[in-house]
Amino acid sequence: MTNEVIRQLNDQQLEEFNKEYVGALEWETIKNLIEQNFQGKRFSFLDIGGGNGIFTDRILQNYPESVGTIIDNASILLELNKPNLRKTLLLASVEELNNIFENSTEFDLIFFNWALHHFVKSSYSETRKIQYQALMNARSLLSENGYISIFENIYDGIVFAKLPSYLIFYLTSSKILAPIIKKMGANTAGCGVCFLSKSQWEYTITDAGLIVSQYTDYKKWKDINIMRRIMRRIFLHIGPVRHGHFWLSKK
Ligand SMILES: C[S@@+](CC[C@H](N)C(=O)[O-])C[C@H]1O[C@@H](n2cnc3c(N)ncnc32)[C@H](O)[C@@H]1O
Repeated sequence: MTNEVIRQLNDQQLEEFNKEYVGALEWETIKNLIEQNFQGKRFSFLDIGGGNGIFTDRILQNYPESVGTIIDNASILLELNKPNLRKTLLLASVEELNNIFENSTEFDLIFFNWALHHFVKSSYSETRKIQYQALMNARSLLSENGYISIFENIYDGIVFAKLPSYLIFYLTSSKILAPIIKKMGANTAGCGVCFLSKSQWEYTITDAGLIVSQYTDYKKWKDINIMRRIMRRIFLHIGPVRHGHFWLSKK
C-alpha cells in the first residue's frame, strides 16, 4: 500500500450528505435482521461513515440495550450529531480503524451505509484495494458471532459488468474534467466515486474473508428523463441501477 490517504470531498460536497439514506424498506430489512440475530440482547455497533448520526440514533432509540460508535472523517457532518450517552463520535478515516481500536475491541455489528464507494484513492486499483482493506479491518473488529451490514449501489454494465465502475471512477476522479463532470450532475466530481457491479461487491466480500448470509435487492431506479437514460447507456454502459443490502458474517 502507498502512503496516500483516502481522498475527501470538500465541505460543499459533503453538505449534500446531510440526509438519511435508510428509508422505510431498508429499515425493515435491518430491523428484521437485528431481531433475528440479537433478540433483545445487548449489542455494540460501529457505524463507519455514519455522518450526521441519524441512522445510529435510530438504532439507539429502537434498541435501548445497544451502544454505538460513529467513525467519520467529515467534521462538518459529525458536528450535526445529537448528543447521546450511548453514542461515541470519532473524527477519523476508516484507514485508521486498527490504530484507533485496541486488539481487544469488538463490535457485534458494523455498518457501512453507502460509505464504501466513497473510499477513493488516485488510481482505480488503489481504490479497490482500500475498499477490500476496509472490509478486512472491519472483520478484525467483529465479535465471534457478529455481522457486517452493507448498503451499496449496484452498477452493472449492460454487457461488461465492471465497465461502468471504471468509467464512473475515471470521470469523477479526474481533476481536469471536474468542471464538466460537475455540470453533468456528479457531486463527487474532482474527488471520485467507486461504485461496483454486484459481482465485484461479492468478490471483494469473499476476498476479505466474509460470507453473504443474506442479500436483499431493492427496486431498480427509474430515471424519468429518457434522454439522460439513453446517454447513460451509450456513454457509460450502465444497465438498470439499484441498491442492495449485504448481511455478512465471518467465514
Ligand atoms: C453517502 S454518505 C452516507 C452517510 C450515512 N452513512 C447515510 O447512510 O446517510 C458517505 C459518508 O461516508 C463518510 N466517509 C467518506 N470517506 C470516509 C473515510 N475515509 N472514513 C470515514 N468516513 C468516510 C462521509 O463523510 C459521509 O458521511
